[in-house]
Amino acid sequence: MEEALIDADIRKARTLPSSWYSDDSIFQTLISRFSSEWHFAVHHSDLDEFNTIPLTHIEEQTKEPMLLTKTENGLNCLSNVCTHRGMLVASEPCNGKVLQCPYHGRTFDLDGIFKNMPAFEDVVNFPSVEDNLKQFPTGEWAGMVFTGVEPSKTFDDWIRPISERMSWWADRKQMERDKSRDRDWIINTNWALYVDNYLEGFHIPFVHNELNSVLDYSSYETQLFDNGVLQIGFAKEGEPKFDLPKNHVDYGKSIAAYYWWLFPNLMLNFYPWGLSINLVNPIGYSKTVVKYHGLIADQTKVGLGAGGDVDLVELQDQEIVEACFRGMKSSFYDRGRYSPKMEMGVHHFHRILTN
Ligand code: FES
Ligand SMILES: [Fe+2]
Repeated sequence: MEEALIDADIRKARTLPSSWYSDDSIFQTLISRFSSEWHFAVHHSDLDEFNTIPLTHIEEQTKEPMLLTKTENGLNCLSNVCTHRGMLVASEPCNGKVLQCPYHGRTFDLDGIFKNMPAFEDVVNFPSVEDNLKQFPTGEWAGMVFTGVEPSKTFDDWIRPISERMSWWADRKQMERDKSRDRDWIINTNWALYVDNYLEGFHIPFVHNELNSVLDYSSYETQLFDNGVLQIGFAKEGEPKFDLPKNHVDYGKSIAAYYWWLFPNLMLNFYPWGLSINLVNPIGYSKTVVKYHGLIADQTKVGLGAGGDVDLVELQDQEIVEACFRGMKSSFYDRGRYSPKMEMGVHHFHRILTN
């Protein structure tokens, strides 16, 4: 049997070869897998203002132009490609009752059903179902809307690890989107280095002085599941922690943060103040845009504890992952080894990437 690139036994395993971060053709192969995963589309509140939103951040990863529409019957994720000659139907969020292609005026309703087309009276067998906009699956949890091109899992199976542990939190009704927390960080690194760095708390004492002063590093936990990793940060005495319900699996623990990562590029960071959604969007093997969205659960806890200054932590991480990317181009570095105690999350990610 051919030996796995990343040994299942972390004690024996070597890390991902540097070419996996610095070679464009390997990058193209990896990113093609994004089409069989679920992706964050919008927060429900984004649809208060608009009933049609192009999902360009998903198109950047999957090459599939999509748009989300809101109708009386619910949400649709539709192809944003006109069934006439392939023009993009919507380029901006909008609020019309119909979708009209700007090229030759073909119209669709918000369910993607073909309505009208000028100068097509003589066309035989027209319109047919092929003239409707294709529908993609959608899923919703805690006000977040997800979609995918051809997700390999059902939405429920995909979200289950998070929904089981965090449903008490998702049931809070007062969660509010705070647009002042939106960020588009442009980073000169490979997306997988950004994910690697996220998946271990090993570097906290070395890189994040401020964070380290509020987290109890000795209790840091990493749990693996099929399609992702959960890391739990524990609060030092007197620092903000979750007020967990009695029947919760973590009841009695001083939890400062739940850091969830779902393959390939979604990070949901839950803090006592609320949720920071981070999307790690590759825009080439050497450039990554990390998008931040924030939802506030408890205004009184903003600015405190492990999630107190997420921008500072982000900038500290960016310096590391940009420098590591330069390291990946060295002729003298190829692979390293893992700490079995502290790098289970990174090992798990590399196993998913290479299997
Ligand atoms: S491409 Fe849309 S109407 Fe022609
Ligand atoms: Fe970090």
